[in-house]
Amino acid sequence: MKILVVGNGGREHALLWKLRRDAPGARFYATRPNPGMEALASAVDLAPDDVEGLATWAQGEGITLTVVGPEVPLARGMGDLFRKRGLPLFGPSAAAVRIESSKAYAKQVMERAGVPTAAHRTFTRWPEAEVYLKEKGAPIVVKASGLAAGKGAVVCSTEAEALNAAREMLAEASFGDAGREIVIEEFMTGEEVSVFGITDGRHVSLLLPSQDHKRVGEGDTGPNTGGMGAYAPVPSLDALFLEEIRQQVFLPVLETMEASAAPFRGLLYAGLMRTPDGPKVVEFNARFGDPETQVVLPLMDEPLLELLVAVARGGSLQGAGDPASTGRVALNTVLASGGYPGEYARGHEVHIPDELGVDDPDLLLFHAGTRRDDAGAVVTSGGRVLSVVGLGDDLGQARERSHAAARAIDFEGKAFRADIGWRAFQTSAS
Ligand code: AMP
Ligand code: GLY
Repeated sequence: MKILVVGNGGREHALLWKLRRDAPGARFYATRPNPGMEALASAVDLAPDDVEGLATWAQGEGITLTVVGPEVPLARGMGDLFRKRGLPLFGPSAAAVRIESSKAYAKQVMERAGVPTAAHRTFTRWPEAEVYLKEKGAPIVVKASGLAAGKGAVVCSTEAEALNAAREMLAEASFGDAGREIVIEEFMTGEEVSVFGITDGRHVSLLLPSQDHKRVGEGDTGPNTGGMGAYAPVPSLDALFLEEIRQQVFLPVLETMEASAAPFRGLLYAGLMRTPDGPKVVEFNARFGDPETQVVLPLMDEPLLELLVAVARGGSLQGAGDPASTGRVALNTVLASGGYPGEYARGHEVHIPDELGVDDPDLLLFHAGTRRDDAGAVVTSGGRVLSVVGLGDDLGQARERSHAAARAIDFEGKAFRADIGWRAFQTSAS
């Protein structure tokens, strides 16, 4: 088997790590792999979003499975082109990716499918948005409808903040095309969880629920980021909850998408909030989440590969069930560049103690925003630099392992949240 992983962040490093365990004899390739991925895959010097270039390369190389990490190549039609050329690819069509790339479309699907979500309205003109915001007041949430790398949602505690956000998006184009259409929605409260479903378009295998931490600061303060850390499983969620989410969220959405000629085959990520009125969908993504993948995959006690191959080849997941878990717990602390999600410096050398993680089955380091400089040293190259994953029999152990390594790794400007998992610790203490 020849497997290509598209993307080069922490999520793709974790995917590669898991798929190699599933298929030690396979040959692996990755697009411009980060230094952590280098030893696991041969480098393909094409950008992850070079859809045409990668299709031609994969055809020439005889790639038998392509797994796409990020949403952008999918939104640009990578799934459609590969399938047209008979190349098995795990990832939805461009039409189905709209569940992530257009929040307005996602809301339409949810409305048709009867899936619980925040009350909302869509706007393309500033004066109308202004009137609506003044009528509704705060707290309220203003979102760019298009792709904005996890930064397009502004949770506003005052009306002035909301007016400002909407004006910037619609009248000043601060999010470019992504913000030409906005969704204004009701502010919801409650614990957030991420549920990943691997789906053939009709049936879904759900992975362990996890919890991301989107705000940059401890205590969930400051601006939203792509995600500063995660843990899995979420102790307060049981099998009954997952079944409820399968029946009330995944299956109706899949049915609605199939009926509207945009069947979703790939990884459907439901971002949920457990509100006082029951779970509601905050957003869908059309791909694995980052940094959740880095904790969900190490807890899978069954191969991921078979599920991905079945879906990529157009097969069925009927009767596949949900993959078993190891029964352990994982916690990921993201080491970020100081200043992220705003401006930050790049090119700082990353010092990872030699002995760290070596022969330690309870510590995994997944690289994200790192690269090699001309001298071969690992340096920072992005906002989220490394995922430091601790595994344990309980969350306390997992956190301790993650923290010890997060402290031991060093680079100028290193920033991280030391409170990942705080909700679970609070629940277990009460
Ligand atoms: P999104 O880009 O839609 O995933 O939103 C990013 C983050 O903003 C979510 O993970 C939530 O923390 C927060 N958020 C989004 N929508 C709402 C909402 N309606 N009420 C409260 N918080 C929200
Ligand atoms: N962790 C959030 C995301 O992947 O979109």
